[in-house]
Amino acid sequence: MHPDVQKILLSEEQIRERVKELGQQISQDYHAREVLVVGILKGAMIFLADLVRNLSVSTYFDFMAVSSYGSGTKSSGAVRILKDLDKSIEGKHVLIVEDIVDTGLTLKYLVENLKSRNPESLKICTLLDKPDRRTVDVQVDYTGFTIPNEFVVGYGLDFDERYRNLPYIAVLKPEVYQG
Ligand code: IMP
Repeated sequence: MHPDVQKILLSEEQIRERVKELGQQISQDYHAREVLVVGILKGAMIFLADLVRNLSVSTYFDFMAVSSYGSGTKSSGAVRILKDLDKSIEGKHVLIVEDIVDTGLTLKYLVENLKSRNPESLKICTLLDKPDRRTVDVQVDYTGFTIPNEFVVGYGLDFDERYRNLPYIAVLKPEVYQG
């Protein structure tokens, strides 16, 4: 275990199993349709990489980067597009892949923004959900795990751009957050 980690919330094994199940469910729901997976950088990249390898439907990807958090653990509430999609999504079946839904502000913004581009359908898949922290209403179609209100890192999620490479989801020791 990494020396900065206080506890492991979700192990590699638990994540692997759940991602497989999500992949099967999504493949069933989309059956013969092509899915355009829109990954939200950078947090969703590891989840996305594992998820798409569990999809049996024809899949292609695009990426967006948005800023919702500065450095630290508090949301500023402002969402800004840092990198937009490469191509039009008009008439496509779009699946947004996110790392975590916290306040919901980022997703609400993304959903409104992408809907205005006229996709054929738009669904959301998130690895983690922290429902206790929600301030706006967003409808998530696929959730990996519902977790308590704790700041987590690993499997793509960061604290100050660090710990994304941990293969599990963990809570850091308090002294690490206090820096
Ligand atoms: P929201 O807009 O408050 O829902 O925040 C969504 C974004 O905040 C996520 O995509 C993450 O990048 C970041 N975030 C929220 N909670 C956590 C956490 O516990 N660990 C790491 N990043 C988080």
